[in-house]
Amino acid sequence: MREQLQGLKEQALTDLQGQESLQALGDWKVKYLGKKGELTAILRGMGSLSAEERPVIGQLVNEVRDELEAAHDEKEAAFKRAERNKRLAEEAVDVTLPGRAVPVGSEHPLNQLIRDVEDIFIGLGFSVAEGPEVEFDYFNFEAMNVPKNHPARDMQDTFYVTEEILMRTQTSPMQARVMGEKAAEARAKGQQYPDPIRIISPGRVYRRDDDDATHSHAFMQIEGLVVDRNIRMSDLKGTLLTFAREIFGDGVQVRLRPSYFPFTEPSTEVDATCHNCGGSGCRTCKGTGWIEILGAGMVHPSVLEMAGYDPTVFSGFAFGMGVERTAMRRYAIEDIRGFYQNDVRLMQNFKSRM
Ligand code: DAH
Repeated sequence: MREQLQGLKEQALTDLQGQESLQALGDWKVKYLGKKGELTAILRGMGSLSAEERPVIGQLVNEVRDELEAAHDEKEAAFKRAERNKRLAEEAVDVTLPGRAVPVGSEHPLNQLIRDVEDIFIGLGFSVAEGPEVEFDYFNFEAMNVPKNHPARDMQDTFYVTEEILMRTQTSPMQARVMGEKAAEARAKGQQYPDPIRIISPGRVYRRDDDDATHSHAFMQIEGLVVDRNIRMSDLKGTLLTFAREIFGDGVQVRLRPSYFPFTEPSTEVDATCHNCGGSGCRTCKGTGWIEILGAGMVHPSVLEMAGYDPTVFSGFAFGMGVERTAMRRYAIEDIRGFYQNDVRLMQNFKSRM
């Protein structure tokens, strides 16, 4: 019986080597280790053994079974590994394919311009102050030296929320707000005089206007205000020249033309040499060589006084510029409505600064 077992084992192991698939391996297991398999057949023959031999052969049978099972399991594991590797190789995804481009937006050209103007003035020591678009009549007009029923109101009719509250027509009310706040702070701290001021204030303003290529009922302005001791017209001119050269280029000149605003005295319109022809005269500047860039002036003594700044101690200058107008020139946009329609085909042209 020992020889029979030994022979079976050797035959089974040799046979095992020839099995080339999981299926064949299963058949092999049934053939040698199954219930009706060859090892079981040998076990059945144990009835004829003597009482001494039986446990010895029994143990041997167990050893052979263990050995065959181990050999089988090892081969089975090898097959499974190979099969898995094959499947992984077949199912591999080529992740090196280029992805689909995700559309990326960009900052609105008006905001780009505002940010550039802010950067320039911050470099000159200004800070940025923003205020409400729904404003008191008092700050928008009265504190800016335009009393009720003053004819200067005609040019800046607007949307009224109540008799006393309106959509602001200009960013100029921020002058009165900032001065008023500084004056109140000084009083609270027991300071004799309020602190000097250097701010710009960008924001949206509203007018009763019919929209066309150059007009919009809502648009943007940037206000500037400097108040200190001994501020003079030359400070205004130097500041605006520096600004104009930063935004339009080094060679730019500025000139001041007399004008009128209720809240400045004297008042001036500021022109810069035409960016297109450099000052020799062309279609863009209608042959004059100059292009108006903003309104400005020395802060009117009444405006200082109403806001709590003593005009015998303080003086100041102010300016206000149209953001759309400046951006239209900078980006050569001919219709102001282009800024508000959010047509990506237009906006895509202004990605440069992101
Ligand atoms: N607020 C004026 C406007 O909307 C612009 C302006 C002119 C502002 C002169 C100023 C200034 O601060 O000094 O037309």
